[in-house]
Amino acid sequence: MPLPPARVVRAVEGVRTGLQRLARKLAPAPFSLLEMVQGAMLSQALYAAAELRVAEALRDGPLSAERLAERVGAHPQTLQRLMRLLASNGVFAERKDGAFALNPMGAALLEDAPMSMRGIAVLMGHPIHWEDWSHFVDAVRTGEPSLPKLRGMTAFEFMEAKPEYGEVFMKGMGAMSATETEPLLAAYDFSRFGTVVDFCAGRGDLLTGILEKSPGVRGILADPRVAENGAAELLAERGLADRCEVVTADLFGPVPEGGDAYVLKHIVHDWPEEQALRILRNVRAAMRPGGRLLLMEMVVPDKPNAAHSSKLVDLWLMLLVGGMERTSAQYGKLLTEAGFRLERVVQTPGAISVVEASVR
Ligand SMILES: C[S@@+](CC[C@H](N)C(=O)[O-])C[C@H]1O[C@@H](n2cnc3c(N)ncnc32)[C@H](O)[C@@H]1O
Repeated sequence: MPLPPARVVRAVEGVRTGLQRLARKLAPAPFSLLEMVQGAMLSQALYAAAELRVAEALRDGPLSAERLAERVGAHPQTLQRLMRLLASNGVFAERKDGAFALNPMGAALLEDAPMSMRGIAVLMGHPIHWEDWSHFVDAVRTGEPSLPKLRGMTAFEFMEAKPEYGEVFMKGMGAMSATETEPLLAAYDFSRFGTVVDFCAGRGDLLTGILEKSPGVRGILADPRVAENGAAELLAERGLADRCEVVTADLFGPVPEGGDAYVLKHIVHDWPEEQALRILRNVRAAMRPGGRLLLMEMVVPDKPNAAHSSKLVDLWLMLLVGGMERTSAQYGKLLTEAGFRLERVVQTPGAISVVEASVR
């Protein structure tokens, strides 16, 4: 699906935000606030629909609440009440005969939908996620992340210790990440590089996309979990294995040499200043003059009151790991301290940007 240019998307977003603000201003302030306060219940309703796989049950056509309840194993009247709430918010359609049908937002809950939102709906409603957020006020009071205090270990250790939740978390992240690959490929030209190192790439969905789009580029995919995360299998499936080396590497260990560009996607935002600097200096040491560092992150806009998803994710990062989303000025400062020069910030048609830096 061809994506519109970033500036067109920004203009459309501006209109959407303006209309949303207008809709809020048209109601008395307490009512608009009440809608926001109750947002967590809507999130839980979406979680229930995702867990029950309501979208899958409606794939072959509309169903009455009774038939739908039979298919998904739910209480008919309660399911009807859940569905009418979701339909009133535009997720699924309630027909005049009382049956419910898939519509575009309902279909986005299908597990195999392009850019499926099922994984993130399941994560957002998960009891562990709710418990983490119930300690948020403490994080605001102290400036310290809540999760390590609550769980007695870091978020990364917790995901390992609770693999079922680790899986839910990874799928949730995967759902968000899947919305970013196309915008990044559309906005940034990787074909000018000989070798691209994706440092701590996860499974390597982005690097796979880069190699597919730019046949002259070679890749190095580095991550500590390459043996388990299916990176080599994904590359082989796409016929890219001979153009990409797969190596085991930790964020705080040696960085593979030989890259013309080093991609760090959603890495720096997970860490407070001190560790973020350590990671960047580590990468800097492996790079040669003329190399490019490409941080891929949601950059917080400078404009006061600007709506941007980075502002919500920023608080989530704070809560879990003590990380943060940064403005371009904050990236500039961090990069300078780590021995880089910020060259430019490339906006994409999505919420993610490419922060491009050169070696000083
Ligand atoms: C937030 S994920 C980002 C993955 C990928 N770049 C993406 O955007 O999908 C962080 C990655 O860092 C890797 N990693 C490497 N060393 C790590 C460490 N010491 N602690 C936590 N994560 C580490 C994890 O395996 C994981 O793949």
